Amino acid sequence: MSGLFLTFEGGDGVGKSTQAQLLEDWLRERGETVLRTREPGGSELGNELRDIVLHRRGDMAPRAEALIYAADRAHHIATVVRPALARGEVVVQDRYLDSSVAYQGAGRTLDAAEIRRISLWAAEGLLPDLTVLLDLDESAARSRIDATRTTYDRLEAERAEFHQRVRAAYLELAAAEPDRFLVVDGGRPADDIAAQIRARVLELLSP
Ligand code: TMP
Repeated sequence: MSGLFLTFEGGDGVGKSTQAQLLEDWLRERGETVLRTREPGGSELGNELRDIVLHRRGDMAPRAEALIYAADRAHHIATVVRPALARGEVVVQDRYLDSSVAYQGAGRTLDAAEIRRISLWAAEGLLPDLTVLLDLDESAARSRIDATRTTYDRLEAERAEFHQRVRAAYLELAAAEPDRFLVVDGGRPADDIAAQIRARVLELLSP
């Protein structure tokens, strides 16, 4: 596979979409062909699954939730991401398997190793070339969400402790795979963050 697979991770409200957009713009200016996508919801099927997993009212067993994210991933990677990588494109993706390990593993207290295995099975082993983790204190992230809207989806509506576990799990994942992860302080100005990310991506782009 010849393209580049870049993922953004972090809690809700840390600024992933802003940074993914800035990176996409910069890559395009350099003449790269970019596929900007997301999980859940990077395909037509994925959008239906996204609606279920984020907005369905009533009970959802944690393992069912984990498998919906995995189903979205399986379809998205096979039909959208792998073809783009095979065409040599740069894939800039909001969230990937580390979200499942952090949210379903740490957040829902399912077994993190099992969640990772299920995700890797779904994605036939595909790992990103670089994962940018935007790290931000839970209450600061919550204030950012509250500044822009008044409704929460199923995951955002979880208690502060849930999101604190998610944040801690992300930092553990990054520490375990320092070559794959770039950890950035999400409290820094957006331009500073973007510059840090560009510097790292530049090392990965072919000359
Ligand atoms: P977002 O696209 O607005 O970030 O919303 C997606 C939500 O889904 C977010 O709260 C994180 C959550 N999520 C998981 O719990 N597990 C996953 O595997 C993924 C991709 C997202």
